[in-house]
Amino acid sequence: MTLSSKPASEYSISALADLMTRSFEGYIVPIHITEPVLHTMLRRDGIDLTASRVLIKGTEAIGIAMIARRGWTSRLAAMGITSNARASGVGTWAMTQLIEEAKARGEKEMLLEVIEQNPAGVKLYEKVGFTKIRRLVGYKLENPPSDSKHELEEIDIRELARQVAYHGIQDLPWQLSGATIMQHTPPSCAFRINDAYCLISNPEATDIAIQSILVKARSRGAGLSEVLMRALFAKFPGKTWHVSPIYPEEMGFIFEHIGMEREPISQWQMSRKL
Ligand SMILES: CC(C)(COP(=O)(O)OP(=O)(O)OC[C@H]1O[C@@H](n2cnc3c(N)ncnc32)[C@H](O)[C@@H]1OP(=O)(O)O)[C@@H](O)C(=O)NCCC(=O)NCCS
Repeated sequence: MTLSSKPASEYSISALADLMTRSFEGYIVPIHITEPVLHTMLRRDGIDLTASRVLIKGTEAIGIAMIARRGWTSRLAAMGITSNARASGVGTWAMTQLIEEAKARGEKEMLLEVIEQNPAGVKLYEKVGFTKIRRLVGYKLENPPSDSKHELEEIDIRELARQVAYHGIQDLPWQLSGATIMQHTPPSCAFRINDAYCLISNPEATDIAIQSILVKARSRGAGLSEVLMRALFAKFPGKTWHVSPIYPEEMGFIFEHIGMEREPISQWQMSRKL
């Protein structure tokens, strides 16, 4: 087996999107990456195509590893091997290379999230030295009651991002961090009530994702997140609300408190010092 890799920047966006889709074949959550989806991932998550790698066996592309970078930290944003090449050591080989390349770039930590119910992924990352920071959980709620009288104030998403960067948990998962929130744009919208803030996906759709929720430290413990979410349910009635499994488990109580149901899929937020 001759394994090699090339920077993803040497490939077209459509070739990378196609390779990603093939590399995630049979995944726990169906993955279909189109060019627009990949463009959004690159911009929002800070993926660096010059540091990302296409994995090659002989002359055939058999996998992809997407690397996002911010300051001294990088994140394995996606890693997939085509089904015919799995469980033969390619993942281990690729991770060893990626860790050495990150060290050579002067980075100090690599992060990732892996679905807890994906034994191959969890085993691979623990084998190459990643340790668990915390479990990340998600929730869902269909057509909640909409009887709140509280008024939501719409704010610029950049204002929310500044608040998250300042008041949020310092080691929030990459996708919830202020730096990622800063990259969100309409039709997503941000709202506040007093010291409680949130970001939601397009409210015109039947399914809406809660993409960020924050209560400033001085106002925590007073039920403000519930007031905020109930006001959202009232403003946009008859929707199905989603919280993707990227929220720290210790925040889960705010969603449970308003009757949301926990999703069966959870993730491990993991880190490896370099
Ligand atoms: C997860 C994935 C990247 C691992 O790559 P790989 O090339 O199959 O990994 P390796 O062959 O190097 O195996 C790594 C370890 O996992 C183990 N492993 C592989 N497949 C496994 C499975 N289905 N169940 C349990 N363990 C498994 C291997 O035995 C090995 O451990 P060992 O060295 O102690 O024997 C690959 O399976 C894949 O692309 N899956 C689909 C996409 C995906 O899940 N990506 C990860 C998302 S974060």
